[in-house]
Amino acid sequence: MSIHIVLLPGDGIGPEVTAEAELLIGSAAEKYGLDVKMESALIGGAAIDATGDPLPHETLAACREADAVVLGAVGGPRWSDPNAAVRPEQGLLKIRKELGLYANLRPVRLHPSLLDASPLKPERLEGVDLMVVRELTGGSYFGEKQEGDEFAMDLCSYSRVEVERVVRRAGGIARARRGKLTMIDKANVMATSRLWRKVTTQVMASEFPDVELEFMLVDAAAMFLVSHPARFDVIVTENMFGDILTDEASVLAGSMGMLPSASLGAGRTGLYEPIHGSAPDIAGKGLANPFGTLASVAMLFEYSLDMKEVADGIENAIRDCISDGECTIDLGGVLTTAQAGAAVRKRLPETGLSRAANG
Ligand code: IPM
Ligand code: MG
Repeated sequence: MSIHIVLLPGDGIGPEVTAEAELLIGSAAEKYGLDVKMESALIGGAAIDATGDPLPHETLAACREADAVVLGAVGGPRWSDPNAAVRPEQGLLKIRKELGLYANLRPVRLHPSLLDASPLKPERLEGVDLMVVRELTGGSYFGEKQEGDEFAMDLCSYSRVEVERVVRRAGGIARARRGKLTMIDKANVMATSRLWRKVTTQVMASEFPDVELEFMLVDAAAMFLVSHPARFDVIVTENMFGDILTDEASVLAGSMGMLPSASLGAGRTGLYEPIHGSAPDIAGKGLANPFGTLASVAMLFEYSLDMKEVADGIENAIRDCISDGECTIDLGGVLTTAQAGAAVRKRLPETGLSRAANG
């Protein structure tokens, strides 16, 4: 059976890190004896330049047919005129929505040798291993909008079904981890947050009674994430809070370039992207850290292809690179993006399905 993967390089450092993802998928396919077909398509500013549309029809059609999508990043100063009719980010939001990818998984783990790369005190970082499950297709990102010079509006709304499905996903993840779920909201002010609390309480009581559930206001959560980050196991939260808190949480991992993500819906198809964004200031210089993208490829093998062995092989390879100091300058290394990508490929295990297939 052939595996079909669409690559969406996008803008800024997106093409550089996506190139490493493509090479890694190619190496993994060879080592594990997989038949993988990859194609690239346009998204974001690059797509606006070529077609006027941040998510051209052909791109969406290709992604709908794919088993998984790998995205680099979108956006940059060239397309950030506030009066522009189209913006690169619209392409990303639209693909998430069109593919129904309502659950965005953002794991945050700290490699021991990166304790000093974080601005936080090492003792605060001890034991940090958390997973943020961010709702991705609702809330103010997708609500009714009005935009004028005197008045503007971004409506935040959630339905029971939208909350239920993402909480269910988070509950399952918490059960498979340390059994604790923290729901983060602003229930002292927002009606949507109170619906989230009600629905979360019901889903967890009836389907995950074995998982410990706590509620936390988002302002307090922002503080605890830097003062006591190890207290969290799985976090579930609405779209905008999840966006903000995961940038904050990336500081725990030593570099924003480290954090991967998986965006999942009801089916197997997922979209995999680093959380770091397009970083136009370092684009084209070989400075970008590819590990967040390569760790996203590991998540692709785990969640869309159900190949945990391959995912573990990639994660261990990244971990070993970091242990050996084979990394980009944001992590204190001296490697370029391409060299760091090659270092990971070199460490892929020789074992696996291919060896089994060869007897
Ligand atoms: C992210 C990004 C996007 C978001 C932007 C680029 C629209 O910040 O994936 O976290 O806000 O979702
Ligand atoms: Mg963000």
